[in-house]
Amino acid sequence: MNPNFDLGPDLQALIARADHALSRTLPAEDRSPTELHRAMRYAVLGGGKRLRPLLVYAAGHALGEDGPGLDAPACAVELIHAYSLVHDDLPAMDDDDMRRGRPTCHIVFGEAMAILAGDALQALAFELLAHDRHVAGRGLDMLRTLGRACGAEGMAGGQALDLAAVGHKLSLAELEHMHACKTGALIRASVRLGALAADADDEMLNALDRYAHAVGLAFQVRDDILDVEGESAVIGKTAGKDAAADKPTFPSIIGADASRARLEELTAGALEAIAPLGARGALLERLALYAARRHH
Ligand code: IPE
Ligand code: IPE
Ligand code: MG
Ligand code: MG
Ligand code: MG
Repeated sequence: MNPNFDLGPDLQALIARADHALSRTLPAEDRSPTELHRAMRYAVLGGGKRLRPLLVYAAGHALGEDGPGLDAPACAVELIHAYSLVHDDLPAMDDDDMRRGRPTCHIVFGEAMAILAGDALQALAFELLAHDRHVAGRGLDMLRTLGRACGAEGMAGGQALDLAAVGHKLSLAELEHMHACKTGALIRASVRLGALAADADDEMLNALDRYAHAVGLAFQVRDDILDVEGESAVIGKTAGKDAAADKPTFPSIIGADASRARLEELTAGALEAIAPLGARGALLERLALYAARRHH
């Protein structure tokens, strides 16, 4: 099965663009401290769907912006995402030994180095965004957007809710709130960063945020379903981990069929939010479908 079944050559080209920009941005492996730099490059390069950078590019594109000003925000969100995965996999968190089809960062480099690689990736994301000469106009808004998305009200807060929820039965509203924080916040930030780089007005920012909120939630619903229904070899991480760790998930709380129905509802909401963009929203549309229907 081709895991990128419905992406198309334009989005594939944007993945290559993100990979190239990331490789240029990350510190070289032969520079000291070499082990830290190797761990950082290992965590980011050589795998990953690059959904968040794609959302940055697609949001910019929808508003007529395709230029190099999108590369720093596209890299920044992926650096934050990669850091979040390294820490998510640590023994103190999900204790996973496989990620993107390979041994996790702490398995290869040890726990201490994996923690430091995560720290350094997070710092690099902000440094990159703050320094980029293309990001001048709405730069402070972009930095604030990223900071909020990965902090206590965003990803880190969602991860704390996730850990606190182990063994508990959450209501659907509590589960959706947790997912919106731990995964949705960075996906929303990705879309907003692309829109800010294209100097979007408030009306457009709001419409795109409705889209991104739905896609972000749908993405984690799909992740929960794949944890139950996917095979480790295809999803590139250990299947069945959520149930083994007694995590509340969409399938565990509302069942497989209702989870799928919620996915469809969220996707319809996302597409409706970007309908006013017409053909300009084609990449965003395909990414919404991809987030909900992907197989890995
Ligand atoms: C996995 O994210 C963690 C979640 C937020 C669900 P992705 O499924 O985007 O992971 P990669 O980047 O493709 O490996
Ligand atoms: C991860 O959620 C969310 C973040 C990394 C912020 P999961 O724990 O469900 O992600 P996977 O399944 O390990 O990729
Ligand atoms: Mg987790
Ligand atoms: Mg995990
Ligand atoms: Mg998961």
